[in-house]
Amino acid sequence: MEQRPRHLLTLLDYSPEEILNILTLARYLKSRRKYMPVLRGKVLLLYFEKPSTRTRISLEVAMKELGGDTIYVRREELQLIRGETLADTARVLSKYVHGIAARVYSHRTLEELAEYSSVPIINALSDKFHPLQALADALTIWEKLGTLTGVKVVFVGDGNNNVTHSLLVIGTKLGWRIWVACPRGYEPDPHLVKRLREESVRTGAEIHITHDLWEAVKGADVVYTDVWVSMGKEHEAEVRRRIFEPYRVTREVMEVAKPHAIFMHCLPARRGEEVTSEVIDGPRSVVWDQAENRLHTTKAVLVLLLRSL
Ligand code: CP
Ligand code: NVA
Repeated sequence: MEQRPRHLLTLLDYSPEEILNILTLARYLKSRRKYMPVLRGKVLLLYFEKPSTRTRISLEVAMKELGGDTIYVRREELQLIRGETLADTARVLSKYVHGIAARVYSHRTLEELAEYSSVPIINALSDKFHPLQALADALTIWEKLGTLTGVKVVFVGDGNNNVTHSLLVIGTKLGWRIWVACPRGYEPDPHLVKRLREESVRTGAEIHITHDLWEAVKGADVVYTDVWVSMGKEHEAEVRRRIFEPYRVTREVMEVAKPHAIFMHCLPARRGEEVTSEVIDGPRSVVWDQAENRLHTTKAVLVLLLRSL
């Protein structure tokens, strides 16, 4: 029987031990950053429907440092735009390459790719999840706070976006106390929260959703935010900017968190909207190390998913 490849779409199907393995390997690869051709001869296709700075370049550098290669293609360059189905596209592309990293508008596109691909599909961001980001976030928290469990991580802003959802997933697996402070109507997906609350019984995690920013950030170890207008939501920009206004991370917000609390942001940031320049460029901000960790965690994912193919 044909063996199904292991994908990385949400991290929901990864155990805490598997996530720890990825993070441990990432720390090792970071500590010995050099050409390590364990993926020699392997090609990763990068299929992108949206722009990217960190994800695309870290995937490309990761493959090169591991001895492999990449091909970058935008959706509009494929026969998909002339009506070829996603299923046929996945069947064919997976005959050529050893893995496909895809950045898509709809998460359903990734699920369909995964259904028909004979090689691993890696979520490079969808409207629902951003697991590669969450892995880098967890590594950063581990490095900066010296622990991975029991930390109070507060996400401020759009509770219903890809970055928040993935933070909730990884935080549940790793036993964090996660708070989401968001405006009414922008809460995380209730189905996801229900599933994660069930899982949290086993991992010791806590999930709190509130509209009270000040209650949420009290005693936080980590204050995390993301843009108010994600890619694909541009048509809602005006309304969102008005609604999210009270959820800006400012110096006053950081002062309510613990004295050693760190500020995190997946980037790209809009200074003056979700965070002030003073905070993101200030001493508690770890955003550049967080961005760097995208490379090391991505390398670990690629080694674990592509090496045995
Ligand atoms: N954080 C992140 O995914 O950045 P890019 O959109 O630049 O890839
Ligand atoms: N939530 C943001 C993340 C960008 C990395 C977006 O989807 O645009």
